[in-house]
Amino acid sequence: MAKKNPEPTLSPRERAFMVGVELYNRAGLLNLDDSLAELALLADTAGLDVVGEATQKLSHPNPQTYIGPGKVEEVKALAEEYQAQVLLFDDELSPRHLRELERIYGQDFRVIDRTALILDIFAQHANTREGALQVELAQYEYRLPRLTRAWTHLARQAGGGAGRSGGVGGVGLRGPGETQLEVDRRDIRRRIDHLKDELEKVRVHRQQYRQRRKRSRIPVVTLVGYTNAGKSTLLNRLSQADVYVADQLFATLDPTTRRVELPAGNLALFTDTVGFIQKLPTELVAAFRATLEEISEADLLLHVVDITHPNAQAQAESVHETLIEIEADHIPVLTVLNKIDQLIDPERAEHTLESYPNSVAISAITGKVIEGLLQAVNANLYENYSAM
Ligand code: GTP
Repeated sequence: MAKKNPEPTLSPRERAFMVGVELYNRAGLLNLDDSLAELALLADTAGLDVVGEATQKLSHPNPQTYIGPGKVEEVKALAEEYQAQVLLFDDELSPRHLRELERIYGQDFRVIDRTALILDIFAQHANTREGALQVELAQYEYRLPRLTRAWTHLARQAGGGAGRSGGVGGVGLRGPGETQLEVDRRDIRRRIDHLKDELEKVRVHRQQYRQRRKRSRIPVVTLVGYTNAGKSTLLNRLSQADVYVADQLFATLDPTTRRVELPAGNLALFTDTVGFIQKLPTELVAAFRATLEEISEADLLLHVVDITHPNAQAQAESVHETLIEIEADHIPVLTVLNKIDQLIDPERAEHTLESYPNSVAISAITGKVIEGLLQAVNANLYENYSAM
């Protein structure tokens, strides 16, 4: 597999000011501070420099501007003071919110929400044709209802992979009475149809491949986990494969499969998957159906958890929710608590292990307890699998 390019494609680094809202009655998996810390990491991965933040507690989002009118002014003043170019909202903004905010801020700042940021990172990391198709579809589905003149510059900004191939503005010929916006919408719809057709072909191909794999009776173990948990590192360790590993969110986008020998000489195919994240955009889940189907057809899921992360529990919960969403919650799960080499107090791992019924604590980087993990995989697979 080709090496991925870890360099951000957004350049020069733009200065971003983050805006976060905590809704009184709707607790997310992460509290506001943690969610903003994660957003800052996402921003960094996308090539933005976070220069400041503003937050607000609300009972519900303002119907027009998401944040309240006073906050709108405050954000403007602060972002100017910090010389920001981008306003980054820690949530998915509705088309109406985005339109209003662009109307207010459009002269001074670019308005980007969490979803657009994640899509941008995915665009930078899409490496295979399938990955690029999936991201491009997700980007267009996100953009279509939000299309204003201002969007054309984001299309250019998306830069890497998916964004590049689909310039939005001025592609089609204008029909009688059609505005440029209508032409753009029509072009996008056409492009979406085309991308769906292409992805359907990929799906059929994948299905055939999976059936062949099934006939070969080699069980499939799929690694799932929150982004940066260590899935690629673990796959490398297990198979000595040269999978790209980076301390970046979503370094892995395209599934990679490796054959691994388990104790007693049994074989298993291990597949790496895209990292999960809280507030995973729905467009993305839909567009990544082909990749995610890979998960729902696995014989065993290895749920990799970064046990050193302060929000390990919430991250694990978020992965579990996504598994339910993609109807993969019926597959047996072996929880892998990773990065124990970083733990000052190993008792913490033991304590956490107790809360997961079927789990192993390992270090993918040092190889500690990898043998134990393989034994656990062997036991899980061959007890379940021979009965099939
Ligand atoms: P995504 O591609 O975002 O889904 O990430 P991933 O889950 O594939 O994580 P990856 O393997 O890229 O690892 C993320 C970071 O964690 C890298 O910097 C790794 O070196 C580090 N890492 C992985 N496993 C361990 C471990 O056992 N111990 C320590 N200390 N670091 C680890």
